Amino acid sequence: MRKEQLKTPCFVVREEGLRRNLEILKEVRMETGCRILLAQKAFSMYRVYPLIGQYLDGTTASGLYEAKLGYEEMGKENHIFSPAYKKEEMPEILRLCGHIVFNSPAQVKKYKEQVKQAGRSMGLRVNPECSTQEGHAIYDPCAPFSRLGTTLEKFEEEMSEEDISALDGLHFHTLCEQDSDDLAKTLRAVEEKFGKYLHRMKWVNFGGGHHITRPGYDIGLLKRCIRHMKETYGVEVYLEPGEAVALNAGELITEVMEIVENGMKIAILDASAACHMPDVLEMPYRPPLKDAGDPAEENAGGNGFAGSSPSGSSSVGSGAADSGTAGHERPYEYRLAGPTCLAGDVIGDYSFAQPLKCGDRLEFQDMAIYTMVKTNTFNGMRLPDIVLEREDGTCEIVKTFGYEDFKARL
Ligand SMILES: Cc1ncc(COP(=O)(O)O)c(C=O)c1O
Repeated sequence: MRKEQLKTPCFVVREEGLRRNLEILKEVRMETGCRILLAQKAFSMYRVYPLIGQYLDGTTASGLYEAKLGYEEMGKENHIFSPAYKKEEMPEILRLCGHIVFNSPAQVKKYKEQVKQAGRSMGLRVNPECSTQEGHAIYDPCAPFSRLGTTLEKFEEEMSEEDISALDGLHFHTLCEQDSDDLAKTLRAVEEKFGKYLHRMKWVNFGGGHHITRPGYDIGLLKRCIRHMKETYGVEVYLEPGEAVALNAGELITEVMEIVENGMKIAILDASAACHMPDVLEMPYRPPLKDAGDPAEENAGGNGFAGSSPSGSSSVGSGAADSGTAGHERPYEYRLAGPTCLAGDVIGDYSFAQPLKCGDRLEFQDMAIYTMVKTNTFNGMRLPDIVLEREDGTCEIVKTFGYEDFKARL
């Protein structure tokens, strides 16, 4: 099946895009000797775990279920971090995971004997109290009153000599979609605060948030950071990116269902921001439409249409229309919105070279990450199909969803 024939809404993940990212990540591993794990919270499409496993060292999880998925579907190194673990889950976690990362001295004390008995590697997440992001406090683990990671003050107050000796590694995660200059700044804070403990560790985990596969990312500096830590402290270095693995490797294809007017034209799509791309509302951000460039580069121009719909209805996107750019530079402006009851189920305002019609298909870009892992069926919305576009352009429908998926959760 070709992409143009797919039923909407659907997530289409491109094998070619994944492989491009994975080649970059593998090169970093090979050049520096660091280890790189897939953070499944960003991307858990396990159909492609065998491919990812050819390039990366394994998976990391935010809890038991992700840990189980990584174990079953990739079967390589399997790490886990959670702010707190349930006692009854610990035996299974210890069976599935080689590295267990705790968030606080209290959790270390509670579980250290069990971890040691199971012969697993144990780490503590630290908070270097070094904010490097602006404007997105909900993504900043170093924001005031953060529960994520142990501050130096708490470390020195609560970790006994025996607790510290039981640790194999330190973990920090402070970045979100950032470049390596922010990593370098964070490392200076980590070293200043926790350097004396790092000499006693076997590994340090730099967390995620490294936008390594974004064009323009300074990979040279990342490599220098990794080498510096390895050489200074004699530790193994881990990175656990999520976004970077599937960045720009997938789209959400949707169809215009209806157009209404209230002071402006509003196109109602069969995709919902609230159900299918919740980060659009949570972050918030305005997702790019196909060939429209990054929303930040509002004048990039391009074609916002994905082609003809399977129903045969026409699309204005066959080369004639270059559309879907932000702002007012095209004559036909639309608010693109979801079909749910939520007044704020709005994806964004876009302008087009030609009027939109019912049946036109639109392609939101960079929709592989933090999308299919976050979907929900609010209003009984159907979940988008999950599709893999292979390198030869053919599409494999990995999963379709229906009423039973909605009902089964309730
Ligand atoms: C502990 C931890 N590791 C890794 C990641 C992955 O981050 P990203 O997808 O931004 O690379 C996150 C994201 O929240 C995280 O909390």
